[in-house]
Amino acid sequence: MNRTLIESIHARRVWDSRGRPTVEAEVRLRGGAFGRAIAPAGASRGMHEAIDLRDGGPPLGGMDVRNAVSHVNGEIATRLIGMDAQDQRAVDAALIALDGTPTKSRLGGNATIAVSMAVLHAAAAAAGVPLYAYLSQGRPVRLPLPEIQIFGGGAHAGRRVDIQDFMVMALGARSFAQALDMTAEVYRAAGRLMEESGRLQGVADEGGFWPAFNSNEEALGMLVRAIEQAGYVPGEDVAISLDVAASEFGRNGRYTLGLERRELDRDGMVEMLLDWCQRYPIASVEDPLAEDDPEGMRAFTAAVGHRIQVIGDDFLVTNADRVRAAAQARHCNAVLIKPNQAGTVTETHAAFEAGMAAGFGTIVSARSGETEDVTIVHLSTGWDAGQLKVGSFSRSERMAKWNECLRLEEVLGSAVFAGREVLPPQAGLPLP
Ligand code: PGA
Ligand code: ZN
Repeated sequence: MNRTLIESIHARRVWDSRGRPTVEAEVRLRGGAFGRAIAPAGASRGMHEAIDLRDGGPPLGGMDVRNAVSHVNGEIATRLIGMDAQDQRAVDAALIALDGTPTKSRLGGNATIAVSMAVLHAAAAAAGVPLYAYLSQGRPVRLPLPEIQIFGGGAHAGRRVDIQDFMVMALGARSFAQALDMTAEVYRAAGRLMEESGRLQGVADEGGFWPAFNSNEEALGMLVRAIEQAGYVPGEDVAISLDVAASEFGRNGRYTLGLERRELDRDGMVEMLLDWCQRYPIASVEDPLAEDDPEGMRAFTAAVGHRIQVIGDDFLVTNADRVRAAAQARHCNAVLIKPNQAGTVTETHAAFEAGMAAGFGTIVSARSGETEDVTIVHLSTGWDAGQLKVGSFSRSERMAKWNECLRLEEVLGSAVFAGREVLPPQAGLPLP
């Protein structure tokens, strides 16, 4: 009997951090090993990413996933039972072929990613090692440098401000645990400042403070004050990281800043961001221009890419071919890695490898709709991605990831923290 052959697959409908249904998959192997994973869900999605299959119709705003769940329990289970869970590539190839569409729109990317990750968990369990160790195969790994949201905006806060994520990176931290300590102080200081200025209105989808600001830039100013009030030197101890998520408000080279009632063209948008990079301690910028604006991405990267991390998220959608093309054209210098954008672990890993081969920064990332599932922590550590993005420093679907990192750090030792070396040396220092 081969103990790693898939014996059964079962999916159920569970609920995510926005109170929406999502797909949980469980895989049991002949030898008794078990794996489980839950599909996350994005709100500011790239147009080329794998499709979350939703049922439509009146119930739950059309967001139900009964069809995706029954695809797992039906044709996916039938196809995968008997396959070897240790052969992730073959399992994922079977999922891709069974679906037969470029974006997993038939079976649902939510169905395929839950199954693919559950198979991975089962294989690690059969090997008797934690998932990160199964992935690293004995190669040296590091705990990632986290980027952690302080204010949430964009699609995660009813578009109260245009910019989606105002985050911090604890560049001065010597360990993952210390990075969390420092971030916790900044988060507390930001909360205090919001309260004092009468703007404390709860939190956005990923747990960052609700962005009750009069301009996008006001949030940057408040963030710098929070870093200072927490007792840190902005840009040295703690730097700012932005996810502009510009595809949400930009199309055809035009950008509409709703909050400020301004419309910018591509050059204006680049200029505004460069101005911010000159005046604020910004170490990293994600999707500065829209997914349909490679020219803008290239212009921004040409201006600051030697000092600042420029990440493609919606722009690259965790797709290896897109990463290679972007590297060649110098559209950005880092890639966000979101498993459900790709739809299988194998495709996610291919995008990661393409990023590594290009010398890109690699940031494994959660989605705005999350659960207690901590698979991404193991991917970022086991693949030695160097960075992890999970959202803010509140709400248990976020804290579950940070806490899992602490457990891994206890096993691995704090000497193996990626730290600021994953960024360009001048990241966070003001542009000249
Ligand atoms: P999403 O956003 O999960 O809502 O798509 C996260 C991000 O843009 O990084
Ligand atoms: Zn993003």
